Parts: sequence; structure tokens; C-alpha cells
Amino acid sequence: MIFESHAHYDDTAFDADREALLKQCQEQGIETIVNVSASLASVKSTLQLAEQHAFIYAAVGIHPDEVGELNEEAMGWLREQCLHPKTVAVGEIGLDYYWDKEKHELQKYWFHRQMELAKELKLPIIVHSREAAADTLEAVRKAHTPELKGVIHCFSYTPEIAKEYLNMGYYIGIGGVITFKNAKKLKEVVKMLPLERILLETDCPYLAPEPYRGKRNSSLNLPYVAETIGQLKGVAAEEVIRVTAANARALYFGKSNHTCGR
Ligand code: NI
Repeated sequence: MIFESHAHYDDTAFDADREALLKQCQEQGIETIVNVSASLASVKSTLQLAEQHAFIYAAVGIHPDEVGELNEEAMGWLREQCLHPKTVAVGEIGLDYYWDKEKHELQKYWFHRQMELAKELKLPIIVHSREAAADTLEAVRKAHTPELKGVIHCFSYTPEIAKEYLNMGYYIGIGGVITFKNAKKLKEVVKMLPLERILLETDCPYLAPEPYRGKRNSSLNLPYVAETIGQLKGVAAEEVIRVTAANARALYFGKSNHTCGR
């Protein structure tokens, strides 16, 4: 059974067939989905999906591109949504210097505040980091405590940086990019990573794996990701699926052998 650790099923790309697709996911062995929010509006739509579907859980947080909408009042509201029984993580939060929509200082400030919120509520974090390797590592180090757990989602940096996160106890999220022919650096990262520290993710509707690169992505494509990880690590795809699901349960539910939430 596959654990989808990072999806955006509230995205408008799924408006035409969302319910049918989610039903298909369940029928085809997707055991659990963590739907990840990025803006105040998507916190609402994510929690709505989690309320409607037993196998969907919510991550509540504001993406670095959207931190312009944060203020103290919004943070108070966000905190309340983190107390929802189906919220299992704070995310996605972090730094994005690729799109560079908000000033770096503002991104760093709200990244820090949301990490503090996660610590207060004992929730793991889902970190988004693009073209911001050094600043993200610095911010995560600064917030680090042995209790704060999390995943660096859609990891795009070097094996050396991955090691830094492993040393702090983080998981590394691997998705469709690993199947791309030009993903040399990421393949090196996966070869180095212990299977016990990898989470399977799509980031759907984005980043569909080969052979569907460029098309709308969904959790149904996760076997292609597991297959490629298995090839790189010399284990069967089934083993990748089994271990990464146990990893995700440990991170999001705090236990390695149950699927029924916190
Ligand atoms: Ni995402």
C-alpha cells in the first residue's frame, strides 16, 4: 500500500474529475494521502477534502510565495486549523528564491514563525526550498530541536546538503523528477540516502514522472517513482513502497504500524 506524502488535490486541475480520481486512487492501492496547503484559501480546501475522505489528511501552512497574506490575525487562525483532528503537519513552508515573489527577509520571518508553531503544537514540518539551499539550511538549523521532525519535499540539492538534513533527523521527499533522464544529481542523492529516510511524493498536479512527464500528475503514478528508486538502490519496488509507507506513518502519525491517524 502506497503512502502519498505530498499532493494538492484541491488544485483546480482536478475540478473535472476529483472524486472519481480519488476513488481510483483508493482502489489502486493508495493507502493514505497527505494533502498539502500553500495559501490561506487552500488551508480551507485542504481541510474540507480531509473531512470528506477518511484516507486524506491535511498539512496546514503558507508557502513562501504566499507569505504576503500572513499577519498576526492570520497566524492565529492558522494555529486553530493546526488543531483540527486531521491536521498532521505544518506545510508547505520554506524559502523560494526561484519565483522570488516575496522579499527574502519576509520569507525567512514567516518560515521561522511557522516552524515555531510546529514546535509548539508538536507537528512535523513539510519544507519547500528552491534555489535557497544555504538560507534554508541555516533557518532549519536555527529552529532545530531533537523533537522537531519533518521532510524536505521535492529535494533538489546536493548529496552533501541531504546529509546535513539526515543528521538533524529529517526525511527527504522524492517524486517524479527522479525518473527524468537529466536528474543526475538527484540520482546521486537517492543512491546515498538510506531507504528508511525517503518519502514517496507526487506534488501533483505537478511533476509527473516518465513516461507521463509534462502531463497532469496523480498518486496513481507513484509506482513509477518507486520503481526508479528501487533500481537505484538495488531493491524491489514493493520494498520501496513498504518502507517509505512506514516512514511516512512514523513521521505524520508518530507510529510505524498503523494508518488511523493521531
Ligand atoms: Ni507542493
